[in-house]
Amino acid sequence: MSPALSRTHPPSQPDPRLRIAVLASGHGSNLQAIIDATAAGTLAAELVGVFCDRPAAQALQRARAAGLPAITVRPGDFSTRQQHDEHLFSAIDATRPDLIVCAGYMRLLGQPQVDARYGRIINIHPSLLPAFKGLHTHQRALDEGAAEHGASVHFVTAELDGGPVIARARVPVGAGDDAQRLAARVRGVEHPLLVATLCLLATRRLGLTKRGVTLDNQALRQPLQLGDDGLC
Ligand code: GRF
Repeated sequence: MSPALSRTHPPSQPDPRLRIAVLASGHGSNLQAIIDATAAGTLAAELVGVFCDRPAAQALQRARAAGLPAITVRPGDFSTRQQHDEHLFSAIDATRPDLIVCAGYMRLLGQPQVDARYGRIINIHPSLLPAFKGLHTHQRALDEGAAEHGASVHFVTAELDGGPVIARARVPVGAGDDAQRLAARVRGVEHPLLVATLCLLATRRLGLTKRGVTLDNQALRQPLQLGDDGLC
């Protein structure tokens, strides 16, 4: 660079915005909430790539419409699970994310890849964890006669939906609810829950240590709750 150019263009500061890669499999409504929050400036983050296992997923269309890199990695294109996981994570790593967000990604992540990214992968799950890990959470909440249900954001570990819970959002279960109605109510709190959690991560206030989840370097005694002071 010429001296004159360097005088008019001083060395740029490193971009402090959190670099987020998203993994999705389906509709991508949580992805859209992140896209909208970054576009509105309420979330100081940069979406660096969207990764999907299904070429027809609406999440890919949402990513392309937002001008984001949209990458499909189909498990069926690989002869082993290990090859798939290595390929997927090398594609993710190429986007240099600070954080990987599983937003409706319907596959288990490889244990070596998860272990190597401790505290840098989160997942949103449609239940009040630790209740109802796994699938069909809304129907299972109804079957058990739960009075309330909701969504959780947690750090990802090798255990399915079992990593330390960061934050939750509650909804009441109505007398006339079926799984579809309940799912729609939960979906309404998932998006603000995910964005609010990402805001805390973007400002580097949240962490994961041997003491568990920390907020401002203090161990959380229980998960944050959407609507409380810590998570607005
Ligand atoms: C959400 O309910 C999320 O909690 C779960 O999968 C669903 C994804 O929805 N993990 P979308 O694809 O973000 O609309």
